[in-house]
Amino acid sequence: MTRLPSLLDVPPDRLPRHIAIIMDGNGRWAQRRGLPRIEGHRRGVASVRRTTEECSRLGIDCLTLYCLSSENWKRPREELDFLMHLLEQYMIEERSAILEHNLCVRMIGRRHEIPSQVLNELDKTVQMSARNTGTTICLAINYGGRAELVDAVRRIGKKVRDNQLDWSHIDEEIIASHLDTAGLPDPDLLIRTAGEMRISNFLLWQISYTEIWVTEKCWPDFDEATLREAIRDFTTRQRRFGGLT
Ligand code: IPE
Ligand code: IPE
Ligand code: MG
Repeated sequence: MTRLPSLLDVPPDRLPRHIAIIMDGNGRWAQRRGLPRIEGHRRGVASVRRTTEECSRLGIDCLTLYCLSSENWKRPREELDFLMHLLEQYMIEERSAILEHNLCVRMIGRRHEIPSQVLNELDKTVQMSARNTGTTICLAINYGGRAELVDAVRRIGKKVRDNQLDWSHIDEEIIASHLDTAGLPDPDLLIRTAGEMRISNFLLWQISYTEIWVTEKCWPDFDEATLREAIRDFTTRQRRFGGLT
């Protein structure tokens, strides 16, 4: 992929290949302004647009966005309905921009609990963008790290049972290739907005050596400058992966 280091003052080989974001704080953003929580979600869509396009401009290979966790179904029905409506609308309205920016959309998470009209629009966007060679936008919808591991273990178990796989050949590579994120590099940088110092069941396997960056800004206030700040900070980190520098 062509990278534009001049945009950020960072040598291209120091940029994170894969950025993952826990887009948190939509509700707080709205409540602080005396608005209903859903207004924060609505405003969050603009941050998604800004961030995907900036990642594309910077030549980031992959951006994974935590859109809905498997635990978020505990929320009130009206909020969930609105989130589903936003997702569906996003898939329809962003299609031309996705093509224009050469983005390749894919999804991680359990499909069966997601309403069929959302899945239909999502599948259309995924198919339509499949051959795009720019930034991969990986949408985590009804995603949970533990659920993903359960599903991977089941897939592997089935192969062992059917004699397609010898149990003694199971290693880290085999496990990674049975996760929803199969084929994607592990995230280099994990960003969380709204200040919480926790992982909330996101990409548990994949973030073993990911650099974490947390901002107090709520997701609707996240912009290109904040993303660049996170990336600049990332470039100052010494990644050791358990070794010595
Ligand atoms: C993140 O914002 C969006 C989703 C989890 C869907 P929140 O809705 O969690 O906002 P806060 O954390 O309540 O402020
Ligand atoms: C994580 O945020 C999920 C998403 C951003 C989609 P939450 O708001 O659900 O996380 P907790 O409940 O504060 O841990
Ligand atoms: Mg939250």
